Amino acid sequence: MTQEAQKTPAAPAAPAAPAAKKQHRMLKISILRYNPQDPDSVPHMQTYELQESDSMTLFIALNDLRNEQDPTLQFDFVCRAGICGSCAMLINGKPGLACRTLTKDLPTEFTLAPLPAFELIGDLSVNTGKWMRNMSERMETWVHMKNEEIDLRRKEVPMDPQLAEDIYVLDRCVECGCCIAGCGTVRVRPDFIGAVGINKIARFRLDPRDERNDADYYEVVGDESGVFGCMSLLACHDFCPKDLPLKTQIAFIRRKMAEQGMGNYDKVLPTQKKSIPIKPITQ
Ligand code: SF4
Ligand code: SF4
Ligand code: FES
Repeated sequence: MTQEAQKTPAAPAAPAAPAAKKQHRMLKISILRYNPQDPDSVPHMQTYELQESDSMTLFIALNDLRNEQDPTLQFDFVCRAGICGSCAMLINGKPGLACRTLTKDLPTEFTLAPLPAFELIGDLSVNTGKWMRNMSERMETWVHMKNEEIDLRRKEVPMDPQLAEDIYVLDRCVECGCCIAGCGTVRVRPDFIGAVGINKIARFRLDPRDERNDADYYEVVGDESGVFGCMSLLACHDFCPKDLPLKTQIAFIRRKMAEQGMGNYDKVLPTQKKSIPIKPITQ
C-alpha cells in the first residue's frame, strides 16, 4: 500500500454556526426644543427613543425621528458629507457636525442642542449664514485687486503648487460655526470674529492676488474684536470638524498684527507716546 493510500480521508467540515445576530441599542435622544416664532413655546428637553441601525449617523437618526415620530422637529442638513457646514449642533454638549457623527460613538443616552452664539431659528436650527455674512463683510473676505483692471481675456498666471496647497488647507473651512460655539471670547464679546474670521485673514494674506498688506489687515483684525481678543484656550482648534490648523494661524496672525502695531508705535514721536501704566503688586 502506498503512503498516499494510507492517509485517512478528511472529515467533512462542520457547517458554520449561523452568525450571531447583532443586537442594536435602543437610543434615548434628548433634544432641546424651542420655537422662538411661537409665543407659547417654552424651551424644554424632549426625549425620543430610537432603534439604532448599522452605521447610523445623527443625520439618519434625526431624519428617522422626524419621519416616524415628530414632523415638527427642526434641524438643518444639505450635503450629508461634511461639506456644507449646515448640520452643526451641540452633541452631548460639544459642537460637531451631525452628518459626520456616528451614533455608535455616543452613549445610549445623549443630548442634542442648537449651537449657542447664533440666532435660533427653531429646535436645532440656527442662522449661521447671517453671522458669517456679517463677519465676511467686516473682514472683507474677498480678493482685493486694487490696481488691476479686470480683463477677462488676460491669461491666468499659474500659482506655485505649494502655495496653492497652503491656501487650499485654510480654504477648507465650511463655516459650520463649531469654533464660534466653543469660543469663550464670543460669550463675552458678541462682536468677536472668532477663529473662523482670523483664519479668513490668514487665507487672504497668503493669496498673492490680494494686494492688501499688513497695515490693511491691521485695520480689520488688529483690535480686541479681532485677533487681540482671543484668549488662546483653543477650543476652536479642538472642535473644528475640518481639522484646520487654527492654533498656528491664530498665533501667526497675532504675531504679524503685533509687529504691525508696534511698527506704527515706533514711528510715533517720543513725546506723543503714552506710557503704559504698570501697577505695583500689592500683597
Ligand atoms: S474654522 Fe473649522 S470650526 Fe470654524 S467655521 Fe471653519 S470649519 Fe467650522
Ligand atoms: S483660542 Fe481664541 S478663537 Fe479659539 S476658542 Fe479660544 S478665544 Fe476663541
Ligand atoms: S449636512 Fe452638510 S456638513 Fe453636515
